[in-house]
Amino acid sequence: MTGSEAVAACGLQKPACVLLDYRLPDIDGLQLLPYFIAAYIPVIILTGEESPSVIVLAMQLGAQDYLVKGQLSQVALEHAITNAIEKVAMRRDIEQKNQQLRDLASALTLAEQRERRRISQVLHDHVQQLLYGIQMRAHLITLDTEDQRAIQEHVEALELLTQDAIRMARNLTVELSPPILHNEGLAAAFRWLANHMADTYSLTVVVDAETDYHSPSEDLQVLLFQPVRELLFNVVKHAGVSEAEVALHEDENQVVIQVTDHGCGFDPARLQETGPGGGFGLYSVRERLALFGGQLSIETQPGAGVRATIAVPKCLNFD
Ligand SMILES: Nc1ncnc2c1ncn2[C@@H]1O[C@H](COP(=O)(O)OP(=O)(O)O)[C@@H](O)[C@H]1O
Ligand SMILES: [Mg+2]
Repeated sequence: MTGSEAVAACGLQKPACVLLDYRLPDIDGLQLLPYFIAAYIPVIILTGEESPSVIVLAMQLGAQDYLVKGQLSQVALEHAITNAIEKVAMRRDIEQKNQQLRDLASALTLAEQRERRRISQVLHDHVQQLLYGIQMRAHLITLDTEDQRAIQEHVEALELLTQDAIRMARNLTVELSPPILHNEGLAAAFRWLANHMADTYSLTVVVDAETDYHSPSEDLQVLLFQPVRELLFNVVKHAGVSEAEVALHEDENQVVIQVTDHGCGFDPARLQETGPGGGFGLYSVRERLALFGGQLSIETQPGAGVRATIAVPKCLNFD
């Protein structure tokens, strides 16, 4: 077979392995190597006895193995082919894992940036406005020192503004990292979250906790808490109902959390589309959990609500 015939044949059907003679009628066999390597096709170079330099060069260029034509045996050939196929499969696996890690790193960076933008917006639009209001009222008091009634009004307004500022700052603190999460178990944290969702978004959350799991690892507590917040927030944003349920249980090996609503649901095929380009919440929850050996599964149909199940192994290695 000539070099160009070989390339054309590979285009039609990808071979499991290529035995490449380094001297082909139309081309130097080594020139075809980059093509096969890029296509993850294992290559074994066939050479004559006289050409050790060709072997070295071929191996440097990425060939998996070599065989000397005069010494071919069935066993050696089979062995070389099996090995070459395995090596390429491993290389492909590693490259894919690296790519996944790169995707995840950039997805997490994006998620972090988005969160920072949101926090800075809350600080700017709300907290700063309230503080300016307080500053202005305080200034007005110094101008109205004669008028008792005006002073009284300013003081009342000051109290309201201060209350709002405290509430806003408290919300922000707890949303970022609720202190209860670090001092108590998950059940307490979910009950706290339920109150928070009711106060802030009028969402009633029923917490059904068989256990009050408290991980010795603060990271695991956070890892289990944040997705629940995201899932409940999805109920607020998308489900069109004002109730949801959070169930918590554990067995010997894993902690399992289910977040259920009876809202509008959605077509599960859409889960395939979501990624850094589409809906970001579920994607980043899934990726973050996967990074620590956990899983997110979603059962849903249009009109049939959503049940999201998070399962995370208890012994995690966060090194
Ligand atoms: N509880 C839910 N009820 C109905 N639809 C939902 C629910 N959760 C998610 N979805 C749908 O799945 C999509 C992806 O969700 P998500 O990844 O969290 O992205 P985002 O919330 O930013 O839109 C949402 O846009 C919505 O259409
Ligand atoms: Mg979301």
